Formats: sequence, C-alpha cells, structure tokens
Amino acid sequence: MNGTEGKIVLVTGASSGIGQACAELLSARGHTVYGTSRKPAAEPQGYRMLELDVTRDDSVRRAVDTVLEREGRVDVVVNNAGFALAGAIEDTSLEEAQRQLDTNFFGVLRVCKAVLPGMRARGSGLIVNVSSLGGMVGLPFQGLYSASKFALEGLTESLRQEVAAFGIQVALVQPGDVRTAITDNRVRARGADSGSVYQEAFEAALRIIEKEERAGAHVDTVARQVLELMTRKQVAVRYAVGHLSQRLLAGTKAVLPSRVFERILMSYYGL
Ligand SMILES: NC(=O)c1ccc[n+]([C@@H]2O[C@H](COP(=O)([O-])OP(=O)(O)OC[C@H]3O[C@@H](n4cnc5c(N)ncnc54)[C@H](OP(=O)(O)O)[C@@H]3O)[C@@H](O)[C@H]2O)c1
Repeated sequence: MNGTEGKIVLVTGASSGIGQACAELLSARGHTVYGTSRKPAAEPQGYRMLELDVTRDDSVRRAVDTVLEREGRVDVVVNNAGFALAGAIEDTSLEEAQRQLDTNFFGVLRVCKAVLPGMRARGSGLIVNVSSLGGMVGLPFQGLYSASKFALEGLTESLRQEVAAFGIQVALVQPGDVRTAITDNRVRARGADSGSVYQEAFEAALRIIEKEERAGAHVDTVARQVLELMTRKQVAVRYAVGHLSQRLLAGTKAVLPSRVFERILMSYYGL
C-alpha cells in the first residue's frame, strides 16, 4: 500500500481521543475519512461521521455498506474503538468481562469480517488494530482489558498470515499511556467497590494508572504512527508508540527472567 494518493479510510471510535486524532490527521493529509461513533454529534471539519456500535453486527454492516456505497471501497481501517474496564478479576462479573471483550476484541473481528471481502476482491487493503502495551503485559486490575488486547494481538498475528496472499496487510499499534478520555470513561467492575478484599490495593493501583494516563503521550503520536504505516509497502506486525520507558516494556519482558519482571511490575503498582 502506498500512502501518497488519497485513500478511503474508516476509523472506528473517532468521536474522541486517538480515533479523533487519526481522523483529523489523515483527512488533513488528503485522505477521505469516515469516522464513527455510537452517537455521532456535529459533523467535524474534514471528515464524515457515521453511526457505529462495534458490539452490534447490523450496525457494523450498515456503516461499512455506507462507505462502500459512497466510495466503492475501503482502503484502510483503523480499528480503534474501545474502552477500559478496571477491577480485580475476582470482582469482575462474567457479564462485565464479556462486554469488555465484545467491544475491544469482537468489535474488531466484526469490522474485519465486514471489510475483508471487498479488500480481497481488490487485492489490497490495510487494517490497523489499536492494541495497547496491556496487550503485551498482563496489567494488575486491568485483567480483562489486558485479556481483550492479548486476544486482539493473537487475532492480528493469525489474520496477517491468512490475508497476505490477497495483498492485505494487518498491523498492531500499541500505545503506552496516552492522554485521552479513556481515564474518565473507564468502567469499574461493580464488585470492586464495597467490601472487596482487593479494594485498597485496587484503589492504590488505579491512582497510579490514572496518573500515568494523565501524563501520557499526546494523541498525535499515535495518529502519526498510523499515517506512517499507510506510506509503507510492507508493515510489520507491531508498533509500540508513546513514552520511551513504556515502548521498552515489551522488550524488557522478553529479556528479564519472568519473576524479576513480575516483581518490578508489582512493585510499580504497589503490590
Ligand atoms: N489512552 C490510552 O492511554 C490508550 C493506551 C493504549 C491503548 N488505547 C486504546 O486506544 C483506543 C482508543 O482509546 P482512547 O484512549 O482514544 O479513548 P476514548 O477517548 O475514551 O475514545 C474511545 C472511542 O471509542 C469509541 N467506542 C467505545 N465503545 C464503543 C462501541 N461499543 N462501539 C463503537 N465505538 C465505541 C468511543 O466512541 P463513542 O462513545 O462516541 O461511541 C470513542 O470514540 C482504545 O482501543 C484503547 O484501548 C488507549
């Protein structure tokens, strides 16, 4: 894929944060961008917004069909829509866990399945899945969030191999902490509050998580990485983005003895 000419781009979750930054940057660079939101408000400048709830098959189908009807193709998809669930795993209900996976993992799967037939028919396409450092490292009190992103990492590795023969490329972008509304939009497991044996440790870890997010990298660092991928002939499987110490985390995990790495992580989160 060559990013010099105008591409038709679909960015999920473009009402806020990373998705909004991607939609703004890619449209400013001459690409035709369709952003999505469950409740699109005013039409932003430079790109169009479509209604899309990634947890609903019909909603995904409708949004992708709209782009195909208007433009005839989807060249690039940025699977970005997502949210963060927090709480001890024991305090998280199955229903809450399923909701997390339904958005962060099955949402991406739904969108991929909707765009792949068209990409295959044309013999080209780029899918960028927004993962997280939490997709490389299991983070305490963000276990279901990490699980959703680990699942996304596995799906992406497999999908890349299956669709390469059709000229379709798939990559993961793994942001570290980024300053967005993800902090205020975080969903707390209902069991995490009253009477949980984990409450004190959870609240202490959450304060650290939120502080790091509020001091996180600017959304444009992620958007620039996505734009850069669109200029590549071949994309690699994963691209870590954000503060250097966080970008090195996955490498640190790979080289340190697992016990040492875990101790460092636990002490960081006050465990
Ligand atoms: N910020 C970070 O530190 C960070 C770090 C690593 C990875 N990420 C990942 O980056 C992505 C974007 O997060 P963000 O930080 O930009 O958060 P954000 O500011 O809260 O934005 C989340 C976006 O996702 C959309 N969304 C949520 N649930 C949805 C659903 N069911 N269907 C469709 N859209 C949905 C929201 O749109 P509506 O509410 O308008 O529908 C919103 O546009 C997520 O996948 C997140 O896991 C973020």
